[in-house]
Amino acid sequence: MIFKGKTIVLGVGASISAYKSADLCSKLAQEGATVYPIITESALKFVGAATFWGLSGQPVSTGVFEEAFGPSEIAHLRYGELADVIVIAPASADLLARLAGGFCDDMLSAVVVANPGKPVLIAPAMNTHMWQNPATQWNRRTLERRGYIFIEPGVGRLAEGIVGAGRLAEPAEIVEVIRETLFPRRDLEGKRVLVTAGPTREAIDPVRYITNRSSGKMGYAIAEAAAARGAYVTLVSGPTHLPQPAGIAEMYRVGSAANMAEAVFARSDAQDIIVACAAVADYAPTATALQKIKKSGDADFAIALTPTIDILKELGRRKRPGQILIGFAAETENIAANAEKKLHEKNLDLIVANDITKEGAGFDTDTNIVTLYQKQGEPVTLPIMSKRAVADAIWNKVNENLLMPNR
Ligand code: CTP
Repeated sequence: MIFKGKTIVLGVGASISAYKSADLCSKLAQEGATVYPIITESALKFVGAATFWGLSGQPVSTGVFEEAFGPSEIAHLRYGELADVIVIAPASADLLARLAGGFCDDMLSAVVVANPGKPVLIAPAMNTHMWQNPATQWNRRTLERRGYIFIEPGVGRLAEGIVGAGRLAEPAEIVEVIRETLFPRRDLEGKRVLVTAGPTREAIDPVRYITNRSSGKMGYAIAEAAAARGAYVTLVSGPTHLPQPAGIAEMYRVGSAANMAEAVFARSDAQDIIVACAAVADYAPTATALQKIKKSGDADFAIALTPTIDILKELGRRKRPGQILIGFAAETENIAANAEKKLHEKNLDLIVANDITKEGAGFDTDTNIVTLYQKQGEPVTLPIMSKRAVADAIWNKVNENLLMPNR
């Protein structure tokens, strides 16, 4: 009964996956929550109000003038007073657009607009093209800036038969995010955590550089999750387009592998946990030209490269007793063997490996599919989930296996 005494407004938007919302409603009610379902007019073409009424035991609303709490109560305000959290699953492209625009033309949108202080969790579900449409992504970013939390849609077989992004997150993942929102864990309180994130840039000349496809999203999610769980977080980030994650104590933006190494080593001794998520260049130009290199005829042109310092390996060498070191391994083949080799060679406590060739994993995606390897015990493969959910799963593992008091 993890949600005993909590009240959840469950918004249901139009999507073939609305039936999964009935399962979510049932799970929440079974865990002791009082669930108030609000179903949009279009969603009623996919699911029946009676199902949600039966599962929740509460009145179901659709139109903004419906009197869910009798004629003396203004329903869209009353819902907000009662709710500890507003969960919208599934959210259609149209619903995201209306929420981003501040529309109040049905009960669900009116409840969201009328109660700005309430946490809002949004689990979108739609066709891949609708999800990836710039208008939808613009609306999503607008809502994120307003503080709404997105539960990333997964990649899978969609109703129209193709495989792509847009599938509603599994009810179990949504329940986990609701739990995280209502009862934030503070299990990293008092810990100092340093996270590296993003790519590095190795200059060739004043206008050109060598870099890679890392977006920084995984590292930023790890840093944000650690801060939410009470850690004092230092983020050392290569160049990214991402804003500073919420709750971070210190942030340093760096360029090259050498810059990143300097920023990390200056702070590494003070850390309880270091997570090296950055995609650090393995080689940098041996010399950076001071002037722009001019092309010279049709002859081939070669750039001499020198290995950079392996920051993580050096951290493994310097590791002090009790310090926890976590690395990443981005692989395209022999994942297990390569990950375990890095785990041992770099003196790590945990390595997070992903097969970057898989759809929904790796660089510049919002989701990831990872396997966690430790020196002892079996590897754990997590299902596809949002990078934030992966981050929390990593921190759960660190708490269960590495931060035990008898360590
Ligand atoms: N790493 C690092 N410094 C480097 C290279 C990598 O700190 N110069 C860290 C990364 O942050 C990551 C881990 O080492 O946590 C593994 O990075 P990856 O690129 O997967 O492997 P490499 O060790 O560089 O080996 P390879 O490129 O041969 O797979």
